[in-house]
Amino acid sequence: METSRESFDRSASACAIPEALARRLRTARRVAVLTGAGISAESGVPTFRDAQTGIWAHFDPLELATPAAFARQPRVVWDWYAWRRELVAAAKPNPGHFALAAIERRVADFLLITQNVDGLHQAAGSTRIVELHGNIARVKCARGCGSVDAWDDTDGSEPPRCPQCGAFLRPDVVWFDEMLPAEALLRAEQAAGDCELMLVVGTSAEVHPAAALPEAARAGGATVAEVNPNPTPLTDRVDYPLRGRSGIVLPALFAAAWPPSA
Ligand code: APR
Repeated sequence: METSRESFDRSASACAIPEALARRLRTARRVAVLTGAGISAESGVPTFRDAQTGIWAHFDPLELATPAAFARQPRVVWDWYAWRRELVAAAKPNPGHFALAAIERRVADFLLITQNVDGLHQAAGSTRIVELHGNIARVKCARGCGSVDAWDDTDGSEPPRCPQCGAFLRPDVVWFDEMLPAEALLRAEQAAGDCELMLVVGTSAEVHPAAALPEAARAGGATVAEVNPNPTPLTDRVDYPLRGRSGIVLPALFAAAWPPSA
Protein backbone atom coordinates (compact mmCIF):
# COMPACT_ATOMS: atom_id res chain seq x y z
CA MET A 1 0.00 0.00 0.00
CA GLU A 2 1.15 3.48 -0.81
CA THR A 3 1.60 5.95 2.02
CA SER A 4 0.78 9.60 1.51
CA ARG A 5 4.48 10.45 1.59
CA GLU A 6 4.96 8.28 -1.47
CA SER A 7 2.15 9.84 -3.47
CA PHE A 8 4.53 12.08 -5.39
CA ASP A 9 3.94 12.56 -9.07
CA ARG A 10 4.37 9.19 -10.74
CA SER A 11 3.59 10.70 -14.14
CA ALA A 12 7.25 11.58 -13.96
CA SER A 13 7.91 8.01 -15.06
CA ALA A 14 7.82 9.52 -18.54
CA CYS A 15 11.51 10.07 -17.83
CA ALA A 16 13.44 7.08 -19.20
CA ILE A 17 15.19 4.97 -16.56
CA PRO A 18 17.40 2.10 -17.74
CA GLU A 19 15.83 -1.19 -16.65
CA ALA A 20 19.21 -2.48 -15.41
CA LEU A 21 19.50 0.49 -13.04
CA ALA A 22 15.93 0.00 -11.77
CA ARG A 23 16.73 -3.67 -11.10
CA ARG A 24 19.99 -2.76 -9.35
CA LEU A 25 18.12 -0.38 -7.05
CA ARG A 26 15.34 -2.90 -6.36
CA THR A 27 17.75 -5.70 -5.45
CA ALA A 28 20.61 -3.81 -3.77
CA ARG A 29 20.96 -4.38 -0.04
CA ARG A 30 23.38 -1.50 0.49
CA VAL A 31 22.64 1.88 -1.11
CA ALA A 32 24.34 5.22 -0.48
CA VAL A 33 23.13 8.56 -1.79
CA LEU A 34 25.15 11.78 -1.99
CA THR A 35 23.17 14.99 -2.41
CA GLY A 36 24.11 18.61 -3.01
CA ALA A 37 22.45 21.95 -3.47
CA GLY A 38 20.79 20.93 -6.76
CA ILE A 39 18.20 18.73 -5.05
CA SER A 40 16.90 21.75 -3.15
CA ALA A 41 16.88 24.05 -6.20
CA GLU A 42 13.30 22.99 -6.99
CA SER A 43 12.34 23.98 -3.44
CA GLY A 44 13.57 27.51 -4.13
CA VAL A 45 16.72 27.35 -2.00
CA PRO A 46 19.41 29.22 -3.95
CA THR A 47 22.76 27.50 -4.32
CA PHE A 48 25.92 29.39 -3.49
CA ARG A 49 26.62 29.62 -7.18
CA ASP A 50 23.22 31.11 -8.07
CA ALA A 51 22.96 34.85 -8.44
CA GLN A 52 22.22 36.54 -5.12
CA THR A 53 19.23 38.83 -4.88
CA GLY A 54 18.21 42.02 -3.11
CA ILE A 55 20.58 43.52 -0.59
CA TRP A 56 22.98 40.60 -1.00
CA ALA A 57 23.39 40.98 -4.78
CA HIS A 58 26.83 42.53 -4.43
CA PHE A 59 28.26 40.00 -2.01
CA ASP A 60 30.10 36.88 -3.14
CA PRO A 61 28.89 33.93 -1.06
CA LEU A 62 32.22 32.21 -1.45
CA GLU A 63 33.70 35.22 0.37
CA LEU A 64 31.10 35.13 3.15
CA ALA A 65 31.25 31.47 4.11
CA THR A 66 34.75 31.40 5.58
CA PRO A 67 36.27 31.83 9.05
CA ALA A 68 38.32 34.74 7.66
CA ALA A 69 35.15 36.55 6.53
CA PHE A 70 33.59 36.05 9.97
CA ALA A 71 36.73 37.41 11.65
CA ARG A 72 36.75 40.43 9.32
CA GLN A 73 33.06 41.32 9.28
CA PRO A 74 31.18 39.10 11.76
CA ARG A 75 27.87 40.93 11.65
CA VAL A 76 27.68 40.84 7.84
CA VAL A 77 28.22 37.09 7.88
CA TRP A 78 25.68 36.66 10.72
CA ASP A 79 23.07 38.70 8.81
CA TRP A 80 23.66 36.81 5.58
CA TYR A 81 23.05 33.48 7.36
CA ALA A 82 19.99 34.91 9.11
CA TRP A 83 18.63 35.77 5.64
CA ARG A 84 19.40 32.28 4.30
CA ARG A 85 17.88 30.72 7.46
CA GLU A 86 14.60 32.50 6.75
CA LEU A 87 14.64 31.36 3.12
CA VAL A 88 15.20 27.78 4.20
CA ALA A 89 12.55 27.93 6.94
CA ALA A 90 9.97 28.88 4.31
CA ALA A 91 11.04 26.12 1.86
CA LYS A 92 9.23 22.79 1.46
CA PRO A 93 10.69 19.47 0.33
CA ASN A 94 10.09 18.62 -3.33
CA PRO A 95 9.39 15.27 -5.09
CA GLY A 96 13.14 14.54 -5.25
CA HIS A 97 13.43 14.66 -1.46
CA PHE A 98 10.29 12.52 -1.05
CA ALA A 99 11.54 9.93 -3.54
CA LEU A 100 14.79 9.48 -1.58
CA ALA A 101 12.84 9.03 1.65
CA ALA A 102 10.71 6.39 -0.12
CA ILE A 103 13.82 4.58 -1.39
CA GLU A 104 15.24 4.59 2.15
CA ARG A 105 12.15 2.77 3.42
CA ARG A 106 12.76 -0.07 0.95
CA VAL A 107 16.50 -0.62 1.32
CA ALA A 108 17.96 -2.64 4.19
CA ASP A 109 21.25 -0.79 4.52
CA PHE A 110 20.90 2.81 3.42
CA LEU A 111 22.69 6.07 4.07
CA LEU A 112 21.85 9.50 2.74
CA ILE A 113 24.94 11.70 2.77
CA THR A 114 24.11 15.35 2.24
CA GLN A 115 26.17 18.47 1.75
CA ASN A 116 23.03 20.53 2.26
CA VAL A 117 22.36 22.42 5.44
CA ASP A 118 18.66 23.06 4.82
CA GLY A 119 17.06 20.10 6.66
CA LEU A 120 14.70 19.40 3.73
CA HIS A 121 15.61 15.71 3.58
CA GLN A 122 14.47 15.26 7.19
CA ALA A 123 11.32 17.26 6.44
CA ALA A 124 10.58 14.76 3.66
CA GLY A 125 10.96 11.82 6.06
CA SER A 126 14.60 10.74 5.61
CA THR A 127 16.03 9.37 8.84
CA ARG A 128 19.26 7.54 7.95
CA ILE A 129 21.19 10.66 7.09
CA VAL A 130 24.54 12.33 7.75
CA GLU A 131 24.95 16.05 7.32
CA LEU A 132 28.51 16.72 6.16
CA HIS A 133 28.21 20.49 6.29
CA GLY A 134 26.06 21.00 9.40
CA ASN A 135 22.59 22.55 9.58
CA ILE A 136 21.72 26.18 9.11
CA ALA A 137 18.85 26.00 11.60
CA ARG A 138 21.35 25.49 14.42
CA VAL A 139 23.47 28.23 16.00
CA LYS A 140 26.61 27.52 18.01
CA CYS A 141 29.23 29.32 20.07
CA ALA A 142 32.21 30.33 17.91
CA ARG A 143 34.56 29.40 20.79
CA GLY A 144 33.22 25.87 21.22
CA CYS A 145 30.58 25.84 23.99
CA GLY A 146 28.22 23.98 21.63
CA SER A 147 24.73 24.60 20.31
CA VAL A 148 22.75 27.57 21.58
CA ASP A 149 18.94 27.68 21.36
CA ALA A 150 18.18 31.20 22.59
CA TRP A 151 20.11 34.44 22.68
CA ASP A 152 19.68 38.18 23.02
CA ASP A 153 20.37 40.18 19.89
CA THR A 154 22.77 43.12 20.04
CA ASP A 155 22.40 46.64 18.66
CA GLY A 156 23.12 45.18 15.21
CA SER A 157 26.80 46.10 15.02
CA GLU A 158 28.03 42.64 15.96
CA PRO A 159 26.61 39.09 16.20
CA PRO A 160 24.78 37.99 19.35
CA ARG A 161 26.98 36.51 22.05
CA CYS A 162 27.16 33.08 23.67
CA PRO A 163 25.15 33.16 26.92
CA GLN A 164 27.85 31.00 28.59
CA CYS A 165 31.19 32.51 27.56
CA GLY A 166 30.39 35.75 25.72
CA ALA A 167 32.04 34.77 22.41
CA PHE A 168 30.18 35.49 19.18
CA LEU A 169 27.51 33.08 18.02
CA ARG A 170 27.73 31.65 14.47
CA PRO A 171 25.76 29.27 12.28
CA ASP A 172 26.45 25.56 12.86
CA VAL A 173 27.63 25.00 9.30
CA VAL A 174 30.99 24.01 7.88
CA TRP A 175 32.67 26.95 6.19
CA PHE A 176 35.23 26.77 3.40
CA ASP A 177 38.66 26.15 4.99
CA GLU A 178 37.07 24.29 7.92
CA MET A 179 37.23 20.59 8.73
CA LEU A 180 34.16 18.43 8.24
CA PRO A 181 32.75 16.75 11.37
CA ALA A 182 35.00 13.68 11.68
CA GLU A 183 32.32 11.18 12.68
CA ALA A 184 29.97 12.21 9.86
CA LEU A 185 32.76 11.97 7.32
CA LEU A 186 33.81 8.54 8.57
CA ARG A 187 30.24 7.20 8.31
CA ALA A 188 29.98 8.65 4.81
CA GLU A 189 33.28 7.11 3.68
CA GLN A 190 32.33 3.71 5.11
CA ALA A 191 28.94 3.76 3.38
CA ALA A 192 30.51 4.85 0.09
CA GLY A 193 33.14 2.10 0.24
CA ASP A 194 30.62 -0.61 1.22
CA CYS A 195 27.62 0.20 -0.98
CA GLU A 196 26.46 -1.72 -4.04
CA LEU A 197 24.81 1.33 -5.58
CA MET A 198 25.47 5.03 -5.13
CA LEU A 199 23.20 7.80 -6.39
CA VAL A 200 24.91 11.18 -6.77
CA VAL A 201 22.26 13.90 -6.93
CA GLY A 202 22.47 17.64 -7.56
CA THR A 203 26.10 18.20 -6.73
CA SER A 204 28.78 19.82 -8.84
CA ALA A 205 31.14 17.13 -7.51
CA GLU A 206 33.85 19.75 -7.10
CA VAL A 207 33.99 20.42 -3.35
CA HIS A 208 36.18 17.97 -1.45
CA PRO A 209 36.15 15.74 0.51
CA ALA A 210 32.52 15.00 -0.47
CA ALA A 211 33.51 14.88 -4.13
CA ALA A 212 35.77 11.90 -3.38
CA LEU A 213 32.86 9.74 -2.15
CA PRO A 214 31.64 8.63 -5.61
CA GLU A 215 35.24 7.62 -6.42
CA ALA A 216 35.33 5.58 -3.20
CA ALA A 217 32.10 3.87 -4.25
CA ARG A 218 33.54 3.07 -7.69
CA ALA A 219 36.73 1.75 -6.14
CA GLY A 220 34.62 -0.54 -3.94
CA GLY A 221 32.89 -1.97 -7.02
CA ALA A 222 29.58 -0.12 -6.68
CA THR A 223 27.36 0.93 -9.56
CA VAL A 224 27.19 4.74 -9.64
CA ALA A 225 24.36 6.83 -11.10
CA GLU A 226 24.36 10.61 -11.34
CA VAL A 227 21.22 12.80 -11.43
CA ASN A 228 21.96 16.28 -12.72
CA PRO A 229 20.64 18.46 -15.55
CA ASN A 230 24.21 19.55 -16.29
CA PRO A 231 27.46 17.66 -16.83
CA THR A 232 29.97 17.57 -13.97
CA PRO A 233 33.55 16.28 -13.63
CA LEU A 234 31.97 12.99 -12.54
CA THR A 235 29.60 12.50 -15.48
CA ASP A 236 32.03 10.58 -17.71
CA ARG A 237 33.01 8.31 -14.86
CA VAL A 238 29.60 7.00 -13.76
CA ASP A 239 27.68 3.98 -15.01
CA TYR A 240 24.40 5.87 -15.42
CA PRO A 241 24.46 9.61 -16.09
CA LEU A 242 20.78 10.59 -15.77
CA ARG A 243 20.48 14.04 -17.30
CA GLY A 244 17.53 15.82 -15.69
CA ARG A 245 16.11 17.54 -12.65
CA SER A 246 16.04 15.48 -9.48
CA GLY A 247 12.37 16.32 -8.87
CA ILE A 248 11.55 14.45 -12.08
CA VAL A 249 14.24 11.79 -12.30
CA LEU A 250 14.16 10.47 -8.71
CA PRO A 251 10.39 9.80 -8.62
CA ALA A 252 10.79 8.09 -12.01
CA LEU A 253 13.65 5.99 -10.68
CA PHE A 254 11.60 4.97 -7.66
CA ALA A 255 8.59 4.10 -9.86
CA ALA A 256 10.79 2.06 -12.21
CA ALA A 257 12.30 0.10 -9.31
CA TRP A 258 9.01 -0.44 -7.49
CA PRO A 259 6.21 -0.10 -10.04
CA PRO A 260 2.87 0.99 -8.49
CA SER A 261 1.30 -2.44 -9.00
CA ALA A 262 4.21 -4.29 -7.38
N1 APR B 1 18.23 18.72 -10.01
C1 APR B 1 19.46 18.17 -9.89
N2 APR B 1 20.61 18.88 -9.94
C2 APR B 1 20.50 20.21 -10.14
C3 APR B 1 19.25 20.87 -10.26
C4 APR B 1 18.08 20.06 -10.20
N3 APR B 1 16.86 20.58 -10.31
N4 APR B 1 19.50 22.19 -10.42
C5 APR B 1 20.82 22.36 -10.40
N5 APR B 1 21.44 21.17 -10.23
C6 APR B 1 22.87 20.87 -10.14
C7 APR B 1 23.78 21.82 -10.86
O1 APR B 1 23.91 21.45 -12.23
C8 APR B 1 25.09 21.66 -10.10
O2 APR B 1 25.86 20.62 -10.65
O3 APR B 1 23.22 20.98 -8.80
C9 APR B 1 24.62 21.26 -8.69
C10 APR B 1 24.79 22.33 -7.62
O4 APR B 1 26.16 22.56 -7.46
P1 APR B 1 26.75 23.44 -6.27
O5 APR B 1 26.01 24.72 -6.18
O6 APR B 1 28.22 23.43 -6.48
O7 APR B 1 26.33 22.63 -4.97
P2 APR B 1 27.12 21.51 -4.18
O8 APR B 1 27.74 20.52 -5.09
O9 APR B 1 26.19 21.05 -3.13
O10 APR B 1 28.27 22.37 -3.51
C11 APR B 1 29.01 21.78 -2.49
O11 APR B 1 29.82 23.93 -1.83
O12 APR B 1 28.36 25.66 -2.14
C12 APR B 1 29.20 25.04 -1.21
O13 APR B 1 29.15 24.33 1.05
C13 APR B 1 28.35 24.51 -0.10
O14 APR B 1 27.58 22.30 0.37
C14 APR B 1 27.94 23.17 -0.65
C15 APR B 1 29.22 22.74 -1.37
